[in-house]
Amino acid sequence: MTIDRTAADVLLSDGSLAVVRSLTPEGTDALHDLHDRVSDGSAQLRFFTLARAAAHKYVDHVLEEPYQLALVAEVDGRLAGFATAEPLPPHLPHVAEVAFLAADDFQGHGLGTLLLEHLAALARDRGIREFEANVLPSNQGMLRVLDDAGFRLNRCIEEGVEIYRFDTAVTAEAQAAEAEREARLLR
Ligand SMILES: CC(C)(COP(=O)(O)OP(=O)(O)OC[C@H]1O[C@@H](n2cnc3c(N)ncnc32)[C@H](O)[C@@H]1OP(=O)(O)O)[C@@H](O)C(=O)NCCC(=O)NCCS
Repeated sequence: MTIDRTAADVLLSDGSLAVVRSLTPEGTDALHDLHDRVSDGSAQLRFFTLARAAAHKYVDHVLEEPYQLALVAEVDGRLAGFATAEPLPPHLPHVAEVAFLAADDFQGHGLGTLLLEHLAALARDRGIREFEANVLPSNQGMLRVLDDAGFRLNRCIEEGVEIYRFDTAVTAEAQAAEAEREARLLR
């Protein structure tokens, strides 16, 4: 038996419980299904195209790539969220590009924020010191997740896409943001 040291129970803002854990090959079908059932709007924000082929190609890529960090969040055994950190090419071995996808009916319940927190912790353990997120300027949800997390963000714009770079080290602001979120849940 192998123990998944990334597995953790987390509380969502609606009071429901989710489990965050590493992606395993057994999760392949559920992952493709998540990418099929998200709305066109979510697919567009995530992949910058409506073509689902890009989403499924990405899922296959994640499953084949051993260096990728990939976390899933499940609610009642159903896949509700997915987050990846893919180390950038060898010239930047300590930097990873991150991406997030929450099922539409779970968006706005804190999953994106929790996945970012857990992904950053996992990345720190693996020596990844910096995250990069490519975000469409219209993506209020993702911008809010990044803002709320308390990391110090560096932003630039390339071809209409906002590129955020931030250190994965725990900052006082990140700790305060996490404590505030937990206190809000317990109120
Ligand atoms: C972006 C995304 C991952 C965020 O995940 P999430 O679980 O919805 O995020 P959270 O619930 O942690 O949201 C954090 C904050 O943003 C707010 N928020 C979430 N979605 C929002 C939206 N579409 N518009 C405005 N605010 C939004 C939440 O209410 C929350 O605010 P609060 O801190 O005041 O409570 C998710 O919305 C998603 O999958 N979107 C489609 C794909 C995508 O955009 N991926 C990111 C590309 S890198």
